[in-house]
Amino acid sequence: MKLTVDGVELEVPKGTLLVEAARKVKQEIPIYCYHTKLGPAGLCRVCLVEIEGMPKLQIACNTQVTDGMVVRTRSEKADAGRAMVIELLLANHPLDCPICDKGGECDLQDYAMAYGRGMSDVVDPKERKPKAVDLGPTIVLDEERCVVCQRCVRFDDIIVRDAQLVVKDRGHRDIIATATGAPYRHYFTGNVTELCPVGALTSKTYRFKSRPWDLRRTQTSCTQCSVGCRQFVDVRYGKIMRTMTVAEDEAISDGWLCDRGRYNIGFYESPERLTQPLYKSDGRFIQIGWDDAFDLWATALRKAAARPASIGAIGGGRLTNEEAYVLQHLFRSLGTKNLDWRAGRQRQATPGARAGSIAEIETMQAILIAGEEPAELAPVFDLRIRKAVLRNGARVIHASDAARTLAELGSGVERAALIWDGVDLDLGRVLHERLAVIPNLRTYIVSEQPNARGAEAMGMLPEAGGRDTAAMLDDALAVISLFGVNPVRNAPASFGAREALERTPFVVVSELFMTQTAELATLILPATGAFEKSGTTTSFAGDLLSLTPSLQAPEGTLADLEMLVGLARALRIELPSREEVEAAVAQRATLPAEFGFGDVRYGKSYGDEGAPPRRLFSGGGTCLHDERIAVLVDSAEVPA
Ligand code: SF4
Ligand code: SF4
Ligand code: FES
Repeated sequence: MKLTVDGVELEVPKGTLLVEAARKVKQEIPIYCYHTKLGPAGLCRVCLVEIEGMPKLQIACNTQVTDGMVVRTRSEKADAGRAMVIELLLANHPLDCPICDKGGECDLQDYAMAYGRGMSDVVDPKERKPKAVDLGPTIVLDEERCVVCQRCVRFDDIIVRDAQLVVKDRGHRDIIATATGAPYRHYFTGNVTELCPVGALTSKTYRFKSRPWDLRRTQTSCTQCSVGCRQFVDVRYGKIMRTMTVAEDEAISDGWLCDRGRYNIGFYESPERLTQPLYKSDGRFIQIGWDDAFDLWATALRKAAARPASIGAIGGGRLTNEEAYVLQHLFRSLGTKNLDWRAGRQRQATPGARAGSIAEIETMQAILIAGEEPAELAPVFDLRIRKAVLRNGARVIHASDAARTLAELGSGVERAALIWDGVDLDLGRVLHERLAVIPNLRTYIVSEQPNARGAEAMGMLPEAGGRDTAAMLDDALAVISLFGVNPVRNAPASFGAREALERTPFVVVSELFMTQTAELATLILPATGAFEKSGTTTSFAGDLLSLTPSLQAPEGTLADLEMLVGLARALRIELPSREEVEAAVAQRATLPAEFGFGDVRYGKSYGDEGAPPRRLFSGGGTCLHDERIAVLVDSAEVPA
């Protein structure tokens, strides 16, 4: 369709909404109720434009372009119509911008300045409504500020399909509330604070913290699960104030964040962070310097190197790809083959040659889920599953039994996705063999640890002749180095991790907190977190994601890569150059994996006997290896 917007000619596909067409020529049409992901609602009328040949103003958000259409967004008539809508929206608005968290990034402020009259003829007193209404564990509602655009209500209905939020009452008395009066609570609540075009819905964690112009913004990837949503990290005075969505991140997050990725950020400034290397002497930890830590670590490894099989390294799922690559390279240089990223329930992270992309899940006719629910392990990916089901009619089948799954699936299904948690290898093997009859099967393994797939690709798996985590613990090696893993808490009980580490002569643990595993260490190395370092990770679907540091790491901590460099120097081992590491990461990250679910190369299955899965709102998701790194928003208070 060819059309003209404010004199600019453009061509767009049939069916394009006028509001989207105008965006292409960078012509702003103000919107409140419309949102690209939610579609038109036609509620607020702020998007009025003049269309040649039409007697009345039209709403751009719900008008499809037609060939030859001539549109004027700033004609006298359009301006007058829009100014009237804004005046009506402001009639009962408290105009408390100086104390409103949205101030400086509010569409009502901006549009009132750009398109409003600057004054009002309304002389009646404004309607008073409750302020700081506690909507649930994460959100506060200011009823006076709400312009009833219903974006929040429609997000709950269309995207989350929970339909908790509703408009109660009618006319000037209408307010947003949960339908049942129960607290507003699901895994994606924080998104409504970004959707809300005014300061009606605000996050408890961000209220009264900052103005947008005081924030220093960086863009990075979330590492709180294996999805890796792009996110903005906003920092003030060296502290994280908030994290926000990246609307353009179509491939991974679809423009959303889950509440874990959004709110689980307080641990970075926890006073419980480890900030100095600790060495256990006579059963008590003493603080030491980094040089001494490297010397002690290197000396223990040098002594054990006469029998390389007595050395082991576990971890990688919390590290970057670069760190995991250097980790396996350094320990292989010592002659050991005892390398494993797996220290929890999950046994496999790479879904093999039939691996699907994150966005592809939306096109499936059937989605087969085996093991832990994706909503727990990969929340934002679960939103895509809901989209596939609710918009495209996909069926979700719980696939713990291959024969029953095939029977339930019936014939005629051409495109199906198999999502597995990689825990029970025997189940994975059966599903892989039996479900291969589906013509276009795509496979996904959603992981416990954010970079499980990357760690696997970088080589943190025991090769022939090497031991896996269970065997390393069983054999009680001379030196075990653990990086960001907590097998005492998360490994299957049969590993006997606590007893094994208690009898291992030298245990090194790189950690952010004093975990159950760190307590058993000989040497604890305080590590930096994901917002404090750069590098790449790999999503469960194989996307290479970049990390950009947003925070200064606490003094005394080091990134795992810096620890490995320090150790290599103490051992006089030459590490690959930065360029070599980057080339190796790029090459390995894109390698097609030829194996399938439950491949024998992953070793023995330990069934489901690991630490029980945790729920998002009760101590963190399963990918989080320590309770302190957990969503604690339930305890957040509404600030006075
Ligand atoms: S609370 Fe915000 S998003 Fe919800 S209806 Fe009101 S203005 Fe719109
Ligand atoms: S789905 Fe995962 S990666 Fe995305 S915001 Fe949530 S925790 Fe972060
Ligand atoms: S944005 Fe068009 S009617 Fe609300």
